[in-house]
Amino acid sequence: MKYFIGNWKMFGVPRSINILNKINSYCLSDKNRNKYKVVITPPFTLLETFSKKFKNKKIMIGSQNCYHKEKFSADTSAISPFMIKKVGSKYTLIGHSDNRLEGDTDLILNDKVKYSLKNNLKVIFCIGESKSQKKKNQTLKTLTNQLVNVLEKKFDMNNIIVAYEPIWSIGTGKTPGHSDLLQTITHIKKILKSNLKDKNPVVLYGGSVDGNNVSMLRQIKQIDGFLIGGASKSSKKFIDIIKNYYR
Ligand code: PGA
Repeated sequence: MKYFIGNWKMFGVPRSINILNKINSYCLSDKNRNKYKVVITPPFTLLETFSKKFKNKKIMIGSQNCYHKEKFSADTSAISPFMIKKVGSKYTLIGHSDNRLEGDTDLILNDKVKYSLKNNLKVIFCIGESKSQKKKNQTLKTLTNQLVNVLEKKFDMNNIIVAYEPIWSIGTGKTPGHSDLLQTITHIKKILKSNLKDKNPVVLYGGSVDGNNVSMLRQIKQIDGFLIGGASKSSKKFIDIIKNYYR
């Protein structure tokens, strides 16, 4: 099973649901539709309407983040995994580099994953090295630490997808070369299997994915799908990624 996950970031108003309607119609007519899942993560303001509208549809809805406490608390502006689940969402992103830069530590991320799983949300856990870590040849070490410092063997790995997003590739138009990416994805799967007892690791790639570079990316069969930012805000661009993946 492959995944095409769209991360809208700070984008979208109620009528942006048209974008999802178009993606949904395309998927329903696509002969390859049973080979992949589509998840869109709109901002919190749209979570409830979109989740209800797409209940039992091809597109599934997730949040872009969650708070590190389970249910209710006196934390202004915070939204918990319990609240996200209660409006019908099925997934949540956790550990996106935007949020790590804002102060999400391994300890906080561990609580976010734990409480999301407890509330039956599927977790898309994001990891990725910075440009300077890459330059210092610390990519694999950084990724290993990001995995083992947050995820635990006792977590149900069937409900955790890992998204590898090099920070230097997000929104820059740059993607890793074929052999680097293959090595990195293989390494992540090895760590998930050996350290976290994940029998069938699911690892996505994210960072400037579009309808053109997906033709290169699809050659790496070890990649189980994509986390798509900019190109997920347009139904055409998002559909092009799916089309070109199966071309
Ligand atoms: P991008 O974003 O596709 O615009 O690079 C990816 C992400 O941040 O999830």
